[in-house]
Amino acid sequence: MERDVIIALDFPGEKETLEFLDKFSEELYVKVGMELFYSAGPEIIKKIKEKGHRIFLDLKFHDIPNTVRGAVRSSVKHGADMMNLHAGGGIKMMEEAAEEAKKSGKEIILIAVTQLTSTSEETMNNDLLIDRPLKETVIHYAENAKKAGLSGVVCSALEVPGIKEKLGDEFITVTPGIRPKSSDAGDQKRIVTPEEARKLGSDFIVVGRPITSAEDPVKTYREIRKEFLGE
Ligand code: C5P
Repeated sequence: MERDVIIALDFPGEKETLEFLDKFSEELYVKVGMELFYSAGPEIIKKIKEKGHRIFLDLKFHDIPNTVRGAVRSSVKHGADMMNLHAGGGIKMMEEAAEEAKKSGKEIILIAVTQLTSTSEETMNNDLLIDRPLKETVIHYAENAKKAGLSGVVCSALEVPGIKEKLGDEFITVTPGIRPKSSDAGDQKRIVTPEEARKLGSDFIVVGRPITSAEDPVKTYREIRKEFLGE
């Protein structure tokens, strides 16, 4: 199964993004999130694709099934290779999204966000009135995603062994919250190193600031990738 490092391009606009990418000679897997997408528009996807990179479009769709189906169709048309949606939208919404991705004939990786890492059990119980342990809902949402035909989930690397055990090794795990030993944790709390993520069984790690803010981003990226792939 494919494994790779995905660089989170959390830049405010197109100029900074393209300048950053120009430093690299290799083809990359990059993540375009809401900040960049909503400032630069879908054109940014085309421009990144022209450079030969692959794209994880992190827009976390959550709407009625028909609208999410349309969002998947448009994102595939722009050239996204991986995209995500909220499992909280329900099985029917995920099924329609998966069906649309399949219909494209391309190998689209469609993954679900279970509970956001910013959601605590307290928030879930008090704000959302979900009276269950957080861990249980994460696994339940992941099961729903699999049932609906999705490829995997976004989760902490620390949750990977539990998810793989329940849902099988083929169920893809995409894990942010990665910090190389030497770098600053920033606002990330439950962090693991690229090597630990490999040992825990992550398929893709998402790394932002440790690479984008590094003095030498290319060197840092290559080191992280080597550590993650165990080469
Ligand atoms: O800079 P850093 O490596 O912390 O960036 C991680 C990326 O992964 C950011 O784009 C962040 O939005 C995203 N992410 C996360 N935690 C989640 C889901 C997504 O850090 N649970």
